[in-house]
Amino acid sequence: MPIYFQKIINDFTQLAVWKIEETESFFAQKVSVQQQVNHPHKRLQHLAGRFLLPFLYADFPSELIQIANTRKPFLPDEAYHFSISHCGNYAAAIVSSTQRVGVDVELVTHRVNKIRHKFLHINELIDWKIEGLEEQEKYRTLTLLWSAKEAMFKWWGRGDIDFSECMQVEASILAPSGILKANFKKDDFCTALELHYSLNNELSLVWVFKD
Ligand SMILES: CC(C)(COP(=O)(O)OP(=O)(O)OC[C@H]1O[C@@H](n2cnc3c(N)ncnc32)[C@H](O)[C@@H]1OP(=O)(O)O)[C@@H](O)C(=O)NCCC(=O)NCCS
Repeated sequence: MPIYFQKIINDFTQLAVWKIEETESFFAQKVSVQQQVNHPHKRLQHLAGRFLLPFLYADFPSELIQIANTRKPFLPDEAYHFSISHCGNYAAAIVSSTQRVGVDVELVTHRVNKIRHKFLHINELIDWKIEGLEEQEKYRTLTLLWSAKEAMFKWWGRGDIDFSECMQVEASILAPSGILKANFKKDDFCTALELHYSLNNELSLVWVFKD
């Protein structure tokens, strides 16, 4: 069973990351493709993400999932809050019966370096000392910060967010796993968030849960 990472967060919330080593038919036995996904690998990722929902909670009603205008999948009665992410051969999902959640998994890549000014506020670039970091550390840090913002974006779930203005992550010394502090603000709404992460040279994983 290629579970890469699993965590019981609390009595009502669980997280899992699956390393995809199966073909589409393995996942298709348990779940179906809800929207049209033409690219075969994207379809495989989509199925693996959906597969994790009843894997985490056997009574998860996958067949009731709807897709909002923002493209966020949700259950109309909110029996569970959930969030899905996939990249490369990994799929991640977080499910909670009580709290809003967000998850993001990313392969560590140099590609985020090109868009760092778009998703990071100038204060974050300074506080995290991004320009002074050695190359690999820079890519790891930037990938983690990108994951952090994607996870917050999914937690928010209503779209229309300026990544650099609305979400800011406080600088900290990185470890293989830990918690980042962040501030989220959109119009009159403002809250502090704790972002849990796991980071190595290949993969960055961030999850957030809060009512
Ligand atoms: C929606 C978004 C967060 C998806 O992230 P991604 O890295 O492309 O892909 P991931 O694999 O991590 O996540 C995809 C999953 O997110 C979920 N998702 C899609 N839109 C969502 C939304 N608006 N809110 C919450 N979750 C969403 C879906 O479950 C989707 O997987 P599925 O279709 O197979 O079910 C991303 O495409 C996006 O729109 N980001 C914001 C864009 C933006 O404003 N960028 C500015 C940066 S400078």
